[in-house]
Amino acid sequence: MGALLAGGGANAQELRPFRITGDAIVEPLGGARGDTARGRAIVVDRQKGLCLLCHTGPFPEQRFQGTLAPTLAGAGGRWNEGQLRLRMVDSGKLNPATIMPAYYRTEGLTRVGTAWQNKPVLDAAEIEDVVAFLVTLKEPQ
Ligand code: HEC
Repeated sequence: MGALLAGGGANAQELRPFRITGDAIVEPLGGARGDTARGRAIVVDRQKGLCLLCHTGPFPEQRFQGTLAPTLAGAGGRWNEGQLRLRMVDSGKLNPATIMPAYYRTEGLTRVGTAWQNKPVLDAAEIEDVVAFLVTLKEPQ
């Protein structure tokens, strides 16, 4: 999957340290919480998040949503903020067989284009934006 994903605003950089507690990363990466509107824009962006390659969700303006993964509608009711953060950072920590890309990892990625080596797909602020948006998706569709 990695080769399909554009690196976006992430520059070659050290990842911010984070601590996994159970199935969650409780603290925001870098301290501050994100912006829900920016998070929604990343989720529906076909070049950046690519979420809708696999997921559907409450995005009526978007055609051709994915069917490979659970709908994002209701994700904020099924999971708390910290659980959503770990899924975004590296869902392989929860399900080693997952097809969902690790959005905040630089090591152990396979099939990563050279332009994206040493960069996470999303940077820490973008992860927080997406998490802030997912938390708002309380209603199952
Ligand atoms: C290549 C396919 C793929 C892409 C791209 C992808 N995901 Fe996923 N995602 C999955 C799959 C499959 C699951 C189901 C759990 C698992 O296998 O890890 C999942 C699970 C989730 C869950 C938990 C859903 C639930 O309620 O059970 C969330 C939230 C999520 N993804 C968010 C995102 C976001 C946000 C993006 C984009 C930034 C994204 N995913 C991109 C495949 C994908």
